Parts: sequence; structure tokens; C-alpha cells
Amino acid sequence: MKFTNVCKLSDLPDDEGLKVVEGNTAVAVFKVNGEVFATQDRCSHAKWSLSEGGYLEGDVIVCSLHMGKFCARTGEVKMAPPWKPLEKYPVRVDGDDVYVAFEDGYFEEQEANAQGASKR
Ligand code: FES
Repeated sequence: MKFTNVCKLSDLPDDEGLKVVEGNTAVAVFKVNGEVFATQDRCSHAKWSLSEGGYLEGDVIVCSLHMGKFCARTGEVKMAPPWKPLEKYPVRVDGDDVYVAFEDGYFEEQEANAQGASKR
């Protein structure tokens, strides 16, 4: 897995994401209570940038275009209109350096009976 140094931990705002790009892949990096998570930058609903047009409510990413919500930890949909989860990206933090594996995006397995999980 190839990790790319994308920013400093101290570069990450507390209540919104930071957009980082490698090639054609745009990723939004979020800091939640000292933990770092990375998701696709484009909302799965209508491709709005979650880093530039979204914000955090705790560990929930709110998309400001239609107020869809996603879990920053898992990418799962917390509130419609989106129904597709966000692609996640592996993150590594080494001291103050944040790394993302841009080529290893994945969809986290959703529990079939998870409470509050959105289904189509
Ligand atoms: S574009 Fe994000 S909720 Fe519609």
C-alpha cells in the first residue's frame, strides 16, 4: 500500500474537511477527536465537494447542498437524500504528518441490521 504525505495534522480544521488530491482522486480528510479519517471528496448524492461545501457535526459529515449526512468513520449514510456510502481511504498518522493511500479506496462493510442504516 502506497501512502502519500498529504498535510500536517495541525493543518486539519476542527469542524470541516481538507481537500487533498493525487492524480484524478480527490479525498476529504477529517479530524474527529484527534482521529483522522479520509473519504471521497464528492458527495455520493450529487457530487458536491464535502471538504469545500460540507462540515462536521461530531463524527458526522454534513453535505451543505441537500443536508445529507455520512459517518466520517465508516462512510455510511446517516441521513438521506444520499443512499450510497462514501468510499473510504486508508490513513496513517506519523507524528504531525498525515498520509493517505489514494489507490486503496474501499467501501466499509455495512452491517445488514445496523440501527439507523440507510437502505435503498
Ligand atoms: S449533494 Fe450532498 S446531499 Fe445532495
